[in-house]
This record gives sequence, C-alpha cells and structure tokens, in this order.
Amino acid sequence: MELFERISDDINSVLERDPAARSRLEVLLCYPGLWAVWIHRISHKLWRANWLLPARMLSQVARFFTGVDIHPGALLGRRLFIDHAAGVVIGETAIVGSDVTMYQGVTLGGTGKGHGKRHPTVCDGVFIGNNANLLGNITVGENSRVGAGSVVLSDVPPKSTVVGVPAHIVYRNGERVLITDPHDVKDPLSDALIALSSRVEELEKQLGGVTWPTDPFTAEEAERVAYHEELERLRQYVSMGEGI
Ligand SMILES: CC(C)(COP(=O)(O)OP(=O)(O)OC[C@H]1O[C@@H](n2cnc3c(N)ncnc32)[C@H](O)[C@@H]1OP(=O)(O)O)[C@@H](O)C(=O)NCCC(=O)NCCS
Repeated sequence: MELFERISDDINSVLERDPAARSRLEVLLCYPGLWAVWIHRISHKLWRANWLLPARMLSQVARFFTGVDIHPGALLGRRLFIDHAAGVVIGETAIVGSDVTMYQGVTLGGTGKGHGKRHPTVCDGVFIGNNANLLGNITVGENSRVGAGSVVLSDVPPKSTVVGVPAHIVYRNGERVLITDPHDVKDPLSDALIALSSRVEELEKQLGGVTWPTDPFTAEEAERVAYHEELERLRQYVSMGEGI
C-alpha cells in the first residue's frame, strides 16, 4: 500500500512543480526522471542487502532507458523530481533530501580526490538548474537554488541562490548579495582584478598628494541622470494623455 502512496505522492509533486504536466496518466507515462527514481528505490534495496552487482546492473538498465545514472548507494528523499532526465548523474555517497527538483545534465559528483563520503548532500527543497555541477562532499542548505550551468565547490547556506563558475551567492534569505570584493569570487579573472587594484593603490601612493581636477565619470553620470529625468518627464506627460 505504501508503495502506491509513494508513487501517487511523486506524481502529485510533478503536477505541482511542472506547468507542462497536464494529467496523472501523462506524468506516469512521459516522465523518465520518475521512472529512474522508482527503479533506484529497488536497486538501493538490493545494495543495502549486499547484492552489489545486481544493484549496479539494475541501475545501468535504468540509465539505458532513462538517461539518468543514479548509483544504487545514493540516498534519495521523497518526491525527488528530475525534469527532462537526460544526463543526470548522482554519485554513490550523495544524499538528496525531500522535495528536491533538478533538471537535465545535473551532476552530484566527486572531485576525483576524495574517498569515503565524497559526493554532495542536498537538503530538502533545493532547486538545481540544468547542467549544474555540485562536486565534492559539500552541503547545499535547505530551500537553496543553484543556477543553471553553475559549478558548486563549497557549502551553500540555506535559503540562498548561487550562480556561476565557480558558484557564488547572489541571494541570501531573499536579500540580494552584491559582490564588492573580488576575493569573494575565486576565479582567475578575480585574481587579475585583485592584482590590478593593488597596483593602482601602489601607484596612487607613489603620486602622493596629487589630486585630479575632476572625476572622469562625473560628467557621464550627470548626463545619465539628466537622460533618465527627461524620460520620466515624458512618461508622465504621455500617461496624462497630453502627448497624444
Ligand atoms: C539561479 C536562478 C534560479 C536565479 O533566478 P532569480 O532568483 O530570478 O535570479 P536573478 O535573475 O535575479 O539573477 C540574479 C543574478 O544572477 C545572475 N544569474 C542568474 N542565473 C544565472 C546563471 N544560471 N548563471 C550565471 N549567472 C546567473 C543574473 O544575471 C543576475 O546577475 P546581475 O544582477 O549581476 O545581472 C535562475 O537564473 C536559474 O538559473 N534557473 C535555472 C532554470 C533552469 O534550469 N531551467 C531549465 C529548464 S529546461
């Protein structure tokens, strides 16, 4: 009985999360991401019963039919929705909480360096955009979102949004996080920016008390403000019907 309840739960969660899904029958017949999760439930039971080879073989059968490669050792919570399915990989020591949504091409993988627990832990309610890579024994906190194409290499706090390669936080608890310090983005381009800004500081020190006659951006900023004021004036003029 519990089996049918779980299947029904999974189907309902797809209907809630995918506006393209129109009926329970359509979800049952046309969502290979669900088939992959259901087959994983069986292969995981075999894995835990120490039937390691049959478990691996079953997971490869699922991969052949669904395009989703879930290692039988992975722990999956309830109502996992893998939309479009193709190319998703979930590693042996990955842990996925309940109500997680992920799209095609997502990898929950290892970095190739670790042993033991070497795959990510994804907490409840996390959303992972297509082709995102979550690598290593990291934790993505509850209800966080990972942008399409991101490469996440470190922990993500709960209720945050991360994007980019490597991923950085753009929202935390609904508040926009703006990066003002290049040290916060650990990529080669930010290293170049850090080197450049320290060189500028050094040159400014060497120039001593020299002050520049005008800020080079002042004129452009004044022009931009005037342009926006004029636009706003015209918008109000037209909305009062006087311009027509
Ligand atoms: C990450 C995501 C959920 C954020 O959505 P959001 O909360 O509306 O965020 P915003 O659009 O306000 O973006 C915030 C900033 O992150 C940037 N950003 C958003 N998504 C990004 C991504 N995937 N990669 C890089 N930067 C991204 C935006 O350009 C913006 O930066 P800016 O303010 O400097 O211009 C969304 O962009 C995303 O990637 N969704 C995945 C959708 C998906 O996989 N669809 C597959 C359908 S088949």
